[in-house]
Amino acid sequence: PLSTSERAHVQSIWGKIAPQVNELGGEALERMFLSFPQTKTYFPHLDLSHGSADLKNHGGKVLKALGNAASHLDDLHGNLSSLSDLHAYNLRVDPGNFRLLSHIIQVVLACHFPNDFTAEVHAAVDKFICEVAAILTSKYR
Ligand code: HEM
Repeated sequence: PLSTSERAHVQSIWGKIAPQVNELGGEALERMFLSFPQTKTYFPHLDLSHGSADLKNHGGKVLKALGNAASHLDDLHGNLSSLSDLHAYNLRVDPGNFRLLSHIIQVVLACHFPNDFTAEVHAAVDKFICEVAAILTSKYR
């Protein structure tokens, strides 16, 4: 679980992300698809071209879900339960892909928030996304 100061770091950086989830999320997805092309196979129905509305829309959903989780750190399992079902049972996303997306999100944050994304904040965000990913992949068997 996150320490008190890690929680504060995660919540403060998500406060800065919140007003621009579509932009930052779209960029994260675009980077993921370019760097790890195998991740595109899950999104045949979306327009993955540079800056598309689909990228922003879906990227926004992902970052909003993380923001929501960041404000429910005492009940992450409950907060993420239906997303966990979705990714494991319906989408069957290979669990390895969560590490890739987690890495990419951190790259985007480092680029956009060079001053706020200190080493300490980075470590806290990494731990947070790892916890979320562990829950989203916990129902696979
Ligand atoms: C859908 C969050 C990782 C593939 C979604 C949705 C959210 C979400 C909020 C929309 C659910 C809805 O509309 O009800 C997350 C979070 C992740 C994560 C927080 C990790 C931090 C991944 C990864 C992949 C993936 C790694 C595959 C590479 C998908 C797909 C959909 C989806 C294919 C359905 C898209 C659609 O048809 O609209 N995810 N996701 N997700 N996710 Fe994830």
